[in-house]
Amino acid sequence: MEEMQKNVFTKAREATTYIEEKGVNRVDVGLILGSGLGELADEIENPIVIPYEEIPSFPVSTVAGHAGQLVYGTLGDKQVLALQGRFHYYEGYEMNEVTFPVRVMSMLGTKSLIVTNAAGGVNKNFTPGDLMLITDHINSFGTNPLIGPNDDKYGPRFPDLTQAYDLEYQQLVKEVASELNLTLQEGTYYGTTGPTYETPAEVRMIQTVGGDAVGMSTVPEVIVARHAGMRVIGISCISNLAAGMGEELNHEDVIAITTKIRSSFKQLIINILQRV
Ligand code: 6GU
Repeated sequence: MEEMQKNVFTKAREATTYIEEKGVNRVDVGLILGSGLGELADEIENPIVIPYEEIPSFPVSTVAGHAGQLVYGTLGDKQVLALQGRFHYYEGYEMNEVTFPVRVMSMLGTKSLIVTNAAGGVNKNFTPGDLMLITDHINSFGTNPLIGPNDDKYGPRFPDLTQAYDLEYQQLVKEVASELNLTLQEGTYYGTTGPTYETPAEVRMIQTVGGDAVGMSTVPEVIVARHAGMRVIGISCISNLAAGMGEELNHEDVIAITTKIRSSFKQLIINILQRV
């Protein structure tokens, strides 16, 4: 047990050192780009690109054509480190692997994190193509990335999640959206393991317990980021309505809508970066 946990931090140190040696020195903001949203990393100026498989101890991508990379450079006047492709729990990665990049970002000195995802709309007022500011989350993964011995060097045993999503940043995001004339929904992100989408009964349950959008990521990364004291912004792209609320779901529709949201999503993130 003790060994396993110690290993995570030793590994994260190794990865951090490698990334620093590649020229990543100052990281103002970390950026996790969700399904279909990775294109934003192409806007990063003077990029240093590091494929995950090059980085010692980084989780190894098992899915063909799913290879991810880190992209470092300037975006919205900030030095950003973007994850182009994340590790999902439903792919079979351990929680320690899913959240590994966040630990590395923290070790690189990153104090702010923008986490994005594609999610299903559960709130009846949402329309596919909406952007949603995440104001809170519900962890329905049935596990937690911080389970195991705690190393007090990196964060407290029992982290407070009152402001999982930083309140000052929430205000800032709302101001930026309004200046850009973008409709910005807000609400609670309900995180599940996947890979199945929800049944209509599950969707009614999520509505009842206060979820506004549902997805298969984000919660583990945000928990580890908060444990490390990072301030978090969460943005969901509502790619479709959840089951029983509209059409049947398929991955292609999800991708098609995400493509449409891309330009407003890019605008929003770049303008947020200029202001954080
Ligand atoms: Cl409807 N459910 C979940 N769990 N994840 C999603 C989704 C729905 N739509 C996009 N991602």
